[in-house]
Amino acid sequence: MSLQGKRIVVTAGPTREYFDPVRFITNRSTGTMGYELANHAAHMGASVHLISGPVTYSKPEGVAVVTQITTCQELLEATLDATVNADILIMAAAPCDERPETFSQEKIKKTGSGSTIKMVSNPDILSTITPLRPHLFKLGFAAETEDHVANAVAKAKRKGLNLIFVNDVSGSSGFGTGDNGGTLLDCEGLFVETYPTVSKSLLAFKLILELDLQYGRWKNQ
Ligand code: CTP
Repeated sequence: MSLQGKRIVVTAGPTREYFDPVRFITNRSTGTMGYELANHAAHMGASVHLISGPVTYSKPEGVAVVTQITTCQELLEATLDATVNADILIMAAAPCDERPETFSQEKIKKTGSGSTIKMVSNPDILSTITPLRPHLFKLGFAAETEDHVANAVAKAKRKGLNLIFVNDVSGSSGFGTGDNGGTLLDCEGLFVETYPTVSKSLLAFKLILELDLQYGRWKNQ
């Protein structure tokens, strides 16, 4: 098994982007896929560092380290630190692509006439990490509602991924649910495997087995 003893960083869950002390922008991610991937990678003998956004899960048995983050900026910093000596990055987190431009120290009062929140871009974590950590083998996830494969291939190329798992988040599987299915593609957009919708635990197990295979091939190239 090529994952035995390998250092794997797994990111999981959403980020929160606050605009006052009690309010934030986020998304429907529950962190289930990331936690299941971390769990199965640890069971295959990898040394796993899980970086997690705010979710309801506790540390999976066997995972060496868990770092809790809240914002996309914190996720970037934690991922940069954790990947200095890592072999593999599994980017299952769902960072918010944007954050409110300003943060009010005081709770914003209602005006009775509505309001507008101006958003600014958050860093893209994979695109930042790829040129800085050329030694890393990277698996990313594409959450798509249309043109799934074409969008995922473009994403994999743009972000420098070795593998991308694409799932349809418009239906009942994927984001915020207990089941998931989809297609694993390589960096050239070639089909590696198609997975029917099953529990996220079973899917994560199958993805870790495939990652083991693909990482071993990549290392031996
Ligand atoms: N990702 C990232 N940094 C971000 C947003 C996403 O590294 N700021 C990672 C995710 O963890 C995932 C991959 O990029 O592995 C694709 O995420 P997805 O949300 O599908 O794509 P986006 O880049 O956000 O593009 P879009 O929202 O336009 O589809």
